[in-house]
Parts: sequence; structure tokens; C-alpha cells
Amino acid sequence: MSEGIVLEEILDIQEQFQVSPPALMVIFGASGDLANRKLLPALYKLAQQRLLPPNFVILGYARSPLDDAEFRSRARSSMVTNSEVEFQSGAWDAFAPRLYYISGGYDEFEGFERLREKISSLEEQLSVGGNRLYYLSTPPSVYEPIISYLGAAGLVEHESGGEWTRVVIEKPFGSDLASAHKLNDHVLSVFDEDQVYRIDHYLGKETVQNVLVFRFANGIFEPIWNRNYVDNVQITVAESIGVEGRGGYYEKSGALRDMVQNHLLQLVALTAMEPPIAFEAKAVRDQKVNLLQAIRPLQPDEVPDYVVRAQYSAGTAATRPVPAYLEEEGVAPDSTTETYVAWRVEIDNWRWQGVPFYLRTGKALPRKATEISVTFRRAPHLLFDSTDGLDGVPFMGPHPAMSRESLSRNVLTMRIQPDEGITLKTLAKRPGPSVNLTPVNLEFTYGHSFGDPPDAYQRLLLDVVLGDSTLFTRRDEVEIAWQRITQVLEGWHMQESLAANGSGPYRLPNYPAGTWGPSESGDLLAREGQHWIVDRE
Ligand code: BG6
Repeated sequence: MSEGIVLEEILDIQEQFQVSPPALMVIFGASGDLANRKLLPALYKLAQQRLLPPNFVILGYARSPLDDAEFRSRARSSMVTNSEVEFQSGAWDAFAPRLYYISGGYDEFEGFERLREKISSLEEQLSVGGNRLYYLSTPPSVYEPIISYLGAAGLVEHESGGEWTRVVIEKPFGSDLASAHKLNDHVLSVFDEDQVYRIDHYLGKETVQNVLVFRFANGIFEPIWNRNYVDNVQITVAESIGVEGRGGYYEKSGALRDMVQNHLLQLVALTAMEPPIAFEAKAVRDQKVNLLQAIRPLQPDEVPDYVVRAQYSAGTAATRPVPAYLEEEGVAPDSTTETYVAWRVEIDNWRWQGVPFYLRTGKALPRKATEISVTFRRAPHLLFDSTDGLDGVPFMGPHPAMSRESLSRNVLTMRIQPDEGITLKTLAKRPGPSVNLTPVNLEFTYGHSFGDPPDAYQRLLLDVVLGDSTLFTRRDEVEIAWQRITQVLEGWHMQESLAANGSGPYRLPNYPAGTWGPSESGDLLAREGQHWIVDRE
């Protein structure tokens, strides 16, 4: 038994999760950042928890000329320094022999022929049995050639007794509707949809899955989860880091493509979708697609009224100095790439008609915070005449005469990260002879009840090998999300063209790093008498 892991813990985890079948997993882009920071640590932890059988083999494929020993040694060094990994030499010694490496290009058939030979020999030598999983952790520019060559080299058919072959595709899956559609066509000319796992790591977060459990396993919330009781919904995905050396990638992406198309729209879908008839892939994904389709499309000239974008200038975020976005390596000096987006979304269906969903995400904000806040309507009749709770702002002076409009509203906040948990803000009577209302929180924290949640990639990789695609996005889901995003991009394009034909180049609003974004974002809510909740906490 490796040090630190006690038998009860392993048995407990094995009881909660199924153990993976034997398989050979090829990681394309195995020498890259994602493989080292997330995929290999997640596989290591699964192995540590005895969720991978001994004949589960990992074969790295990338351009860097490494051999097996160098690949293992690099993986070891990155795990030793990874704060999310509890490195144990015994567990590592048991894990390392599963790792193999072969170098080759992504755009040359010869590399894939060598890959086929290597796979066959490992499968035979290690009694793997023929199940295969390909993980595309490369720049998206080589997704198409990799898929083509996997097909051409005969690596997609089940061979030597295997029951399945699957492919996992990382984000970004396309850069607009047309490119996502084309990539889908290409992938599906080689694989069937049920072999394709489009990954969005937010869906692997325990707290994100808990949104569905919270809504649909408890009897008390669903009856009030609609326009009759909900005033507005806010979803904030704030990061305190800047682009941190990823300027080259980010220039082509921006916050809208990098975060909103995938993570934020997924959070909207889970928060607002109708109950699926079962917790399984088709039922859940059907409901997510229905919800995404109900997001009101925007005409290009409407976009500035609903969507705010901005870019950060230099400042200090979460006590660390952050250089201006324009000073990052790989960023054009006149770049108009947005590092911040706020979007007022309308959902056109019976449940949500007239309830605004305010979304925002940004880099270089004051702190990391991913939260979904559902604000409920006020009590219909005012019974009490003084309060400390002026809609979230503690009242400091003598108690004012109350009006119903100044009564604090109930807010249910699901904190996805950090401090994972759920808070329900309610009003209570402050002890004393008079009736003073004051906001108090009913709290649930994950750490307190369950300890730290496992990493998203751990859960998602296990689901892929178990063949459960519930937490992965389907073709139609990705495309409808891109359709709504493309409408926003078209609006921005129009805004820039109009500016160029009139007063000169379009000027993006700016916010200093370490602030909660541009004033325009606050205005988006203020004109409806609202404010961003997280900023006031
Ligand atoms: C990624 C984005 O998908 O999500 C990054 O490309 C971002 O820009 C990251 O930093 C945030 O993920 P998390 O899990 O830290 O919230």
C-alpha cells in the first residue's frame, strides 16, 4: 500500500465510482502544458485511487523528440511541483511504467503509421485488449489533420478484441459557427457522434454538477425556480490572473470565445434548463440544447445594448501587479481583443420570460470567483417598518422608514469556486425590543461537509473510459452556443466598421487590473435598478 492512502479511502472512492476497463490512451500534445498540468496528474490520481486497472496504458504523442524515460521524468517533475498533486514516490513508481512516448508530426501520415505499430505492440505486450482513447490536447489548428490521419491509418476501427474507440476534443471547438460546423463535419466523417467527447472542464467540477442535484433532487426549489418568483440571475466567472504569457492564443480568442461560448453558456443551461427525464446523456443534453435555443438571438445593431466588452490596463489584482493587456507578449499594440465581457441574456420560454440573466467574465479582476446568484422577488407585503438590510447594503445610521422597495431580497448563491458552497440570504429579526430586519446567511460549504472536491479532469477522464457522455457537449449543443456567440461577434464587427467609417478606430472601454470591470458593465444593470452582487461582498 502506498504511503498516505488508507484502504478505507480507496474502498470509499471505488464504491462511489466504477473502475475503468483496460484501455490504451493516446495523448496528442503530450509534451504540452495541459497534458502536464491537468491530464497526467488526473490519471495519476485515478491510478492512486485504484480506479485504473494495471493494463490501462498511456502513450504520449508529440513533436518533441523524447523517449519513454524522458517523458516519465518530465511528468514526474511537473507533478512534484504541482500544488494540486499530493506526490507520493511509491504511487509514482507504480504509475510511471504505464507511460510511453512516441514522437511524430501531426500533419504527416508516416507518424501515424509508426503510431499504429507502437499501439499494436503495446496492446499485445501489456494485454490491453484493444479499447482505445485518443485525446486531442494540441492547438486546434491540427485537430483536422489528426482526425484525418487517425482514419487513414486505420486507427479508428476496433481491433484485436477492443470494444470501443473514442476521441476527446479539447476547446476551443471552432472559433465561430461556420468553423465549428466544419470541424464537426470533419470529425463525424471519421468517428460516429457517440465516439466523440467534446470536453468542457467546467462540467467536471463537482459544484457545477451539484447545480442539477440541488435543483432536481430537492423538492423545495423547483416550484419557485421561475419567472413568478425569480427577479434576476447573475453568473460571474471572475479571474484575478491576466493572460499570463498566453497572449498569442488569447489574441485570437478573447473572453467571449475563451469563456462565454463554453463555460458560461453551460452554467446558464444548467441553471435554467427544464428537468430532464433521467440523468443520462441524451435526456440531459436534449434539455440543454432546448435552453440554449431559447436564448434570444441578437441582431448586430442590438449588441451594444446588451453586451459590454473591455480590456484591462495595468494594475494590481489580488495583491499581484498585472501588466496592461497591450503589454503582454504576443498582443498587438492596437489590439481590440476583449478581456472582459458582460452580457444581459434574455431567455424566451414560459419559465424565464422577462427574467434577465446577467453574465460576466473577465481577467485581472479583484479575485477569483465563479458564482451563480439567483435573486428572488421581494415579499409581497410590507409588515415591518425598519430594517438593517437595504438590499445587500448594511445600514449604518438611524433606522429609516421602510418601503417595500428597500427591503432586501432573498439571494441564493451557488459558489462554484473557490470556497465551494451554497448560501441563501434571508432576512431575520435582530435581537432587541424593536423589530429590526437584518440579512443573515444560511450556509452550506463543501469543505466542511465533504473536504476538497476532486479535480474536474479526473471525473471527466473516468467518464470517457466508462462511456458516459452526459458531461460532454453534443454536436448540436456546441453549434447552437456558437450561433449565439457569432451573433455577438457580428455586432462587434459592425460597431468597429461604423467607427472606422466615422470617427476613427473603435475604442474599447478599459478597466484597471484589480477592479470589477468597466463602468459600462455596472450601467448595464443600474439602468434596471440592479447591481452586481459579487462586487458588494
Ligand atoms: C479555460 C480558459 O478554459 O478556463 C482559461 O481557456 C481560463 O483562460 C480557465 O483561465 C479557467 O478555468 P478555471 O477552472 O480555473 O476556472
